[in-house]
Amino acid sequence: MKSSRIPGIYKLPPVERLKVIAKETGLSADDVGQLIAGLAVEQADRMAENVIGTFQVPLGVATNFIIDGLELAVPMATEEPSVIAAASNGARMAREGGGFVTSSTGPVMRAQIQAVGIADPFGARQEILNHKDELIKAANEKDPMLVKFGGGVKDIEAYVIESRVGTMVVAHLIVDCRDAMGANAVNTMAESLAPRIEQITGGRVYLRIISNLADLRLARAKAVFKAQEIGGAEVVDGIIQAAALAEVDPYRAATHNKGIMNGVTAVVLATGNDTRAVEAGAHAYASMRGRYTSLTRYEKNKDGDLVGSIEMPVAVGLVGGATRVHPVAKTVVKILGLKSADHLSRIIACVGLAQNFAALRALASEGIQRGHMTLHAKNVAVQAGARCDLVEMVAARMAAERRINVDRAAEILKELEK
Ligand code: MEV
Repeated sequence: MKSSRIPGIYKLPPVERLKVIAKETGLSADDVGQLIAGLAVEQADRMAENVIGTFQVPLGVATNFIIDGLELAVPMATEEPSVIAAASNGARMAREGGGFVTSSTGPVMRAQIQAVGIADPFGARQEILNHKDELIKAANEKDPMLVKFGGGVKDIEAYVIESRVGTMVVAHLIVDCRDAMGANAVNTMAESLAPRIEQITGGRVYLRIISNLADLRLARAKAVFKAQEIGGAEVVDGIIQAAALAEVDPYRAATHNKGIMNGVTAVVLATGNDTRAVEAGAHAYASMRGRYTSLTRYEKNKDGDLVGSIEMPVAVGLVGGATRVHPVAKTVVKILGLKSADHLSRIIACVGLAQNFAALRALASEGIQRGHMTLHAKNVAVQAGARCDLVEMVAARMAAERRINVDRAAEILKELEK
């Protein structure tokens, strides 16, 4: 798109907003139709069991992103007020510094094969490694398509693990999943190797499953937030103080990372990916050094500007799963102009960083409640029975009065309807 800076988009009604995004991103009438129609019950019935309906969540677009020099509007699916506004705000403040710059490790996952009841676990571990080439070849034969596209098992690792019920040997298949999230591919491979691992180790195999601690599938993003753009040196210092607490205190880190996941999960969901896989990976990665910590870092550069960075596992795919099936996810993939699953993972890291920056900036200055409650007020107005224009009017009055509850909304509504 030419520019993701679309001032005033928030004032438009949803259909007009969609028109702007469709025009900017070159969506066809068909794509727009799919997004509006959403998931039909018949489609849903093929995705999950005992389906009785569909559950809808708002889909919005975060504006203002520049990612690796390209302008991008990012669709986000979330039920939480102020998340999309905050991501847009964070992205806007990164623009002066050139936007977000990304990198990644590539789309590599691990599968684990657990062998137990082994008399000589260290010897068995070495035997697994001695048979590496044979095991890699056998696993890759299970997914020739993945291999054809440059993916497949690249390596095998093996660990001896002490547990409450005895010593185990755990083999890891290191699999390049290309554009798949990879759970199906790696689980099939791991299952297929189980009998051979039993022969090689003399043990009994139980678990054969992906690890969601995707520490080989890291996405990274960095942005420079100019001090004058974000409210001056005091705000820079306040953000650094807040982030420093999250680095060392798990109570704060959990909330800090929750804020990151507000953005991350919204894009993961909008693209039909597995939110739980990404969340499990993020929190496990945050604990990898023995203490739960934050997924972002903030520093002041020599010019006094704020440098924010994020590194986290983002296991998402473009093929398989709901991404190719869900009509809204299919359109979202087009809006994002995705080139690969890796590309998507890097966009997600940027949204996580923008989201986190916006939350910290608000916390380091006016606090989050004012902005949050203004949006929350709209929900309260609707709960009190307000419709159409009255929603905005009731919400605005309650926000100005700082009295946001259903009773007050009902009173204002009564007055306005007189
Ligand atoms: C609320 O959903 C998220 C925040 O609590 C994140 C944070 O505290 O950094 C605002």
